[in-house]
Amino acid sequence: MKKILFLFVVGCMAACNSSSATDTKTAEQAAQKPKVLVAYFSHSGENYGVGEIKEGNTQKVAKEIARQTGGTLFRIQAVEKYPAEYDACTQRAKNEQAAKARPTLTERVENMSQYDVIYIGYPIWWGDMPMPVYTFLESYDFSDKTVHPFSTHEGSGLGRTETSLKETLPKTTTIGPGMAIKGHVAQKEPSAVFTAVRNWLEQE
Ligand SMILES: Cc1cc2nc3c(=O)[nH]c(=O)nc-3n(C[C@H](O)[C@H](O)[C@H](O)COP(=O)(O)O)c2cc1C
Repeated sequence: MKKILFLFVVGCMAACNSSSATDTKTAEQAAQKPKVLVAYFSHSGENYGVGEIKEGNTQKVAKEIARQTGGTLFRIQAVEKYPAEYDACTQRAKNEQAAKARPTLTERVENMSQYDVIYIGYPIWWGDMPMPVYTFLESYDFSDKTVHPFSTHEGSGLGRTETSLKETLPKTTTIGPGMAIKGHVAQKEPSAVFTAVRNWLEQE
């Protein structure tokens, strides 16, 4: 009887140890998992090649990245809204770029220091990032973070944004290869967005 009791106690101890070891492992894995922010600028209204859109092309891509990475979405928005009409929007964008403007943003990221990896997305405007993205990049310390750029465009790819990013974030050592998706594809072909994002994330 004593022997049976002894075996029972040893068995319980082993089971207990193995479940607490699994718990510790899960907690460690959660602690090690990098925290992801998906920050993006996107413009809805009248747009090139897609007509009047309710949700911006870049926003669609940003949502897919957040879905696949489990990251937190943050929309970069200027206090002074951009006109919905395409021509008026392109004119303002051109003026702001020439003036190296830094439009004021509507909100800040809460506790930016908690994030390790930042996906930063934007439409290509006149070959570069829209100026509110510059305001965003200059508002935080990204030196210890990994930054991955992505764009939507209608022919320019990432334009000159990878160079602009490096110049704007000189202390950020890790700026990963960017991903570019055509705006009308982002708007109309969710399965193409899914595949492009998956392939890009796998490469990292
Ligand atoms: C102001 C403005 C400037 C643009 N400049 C370019 C450009 O230089 N090269 C390009 O390929 N597409 C350009 N486009 C097209 C946008 O990059 C493209 O439609 C993008 O997908 C829009 O994304 P969004 O809906 O997230 O704002 C421009 C569009 C606008 C409104």
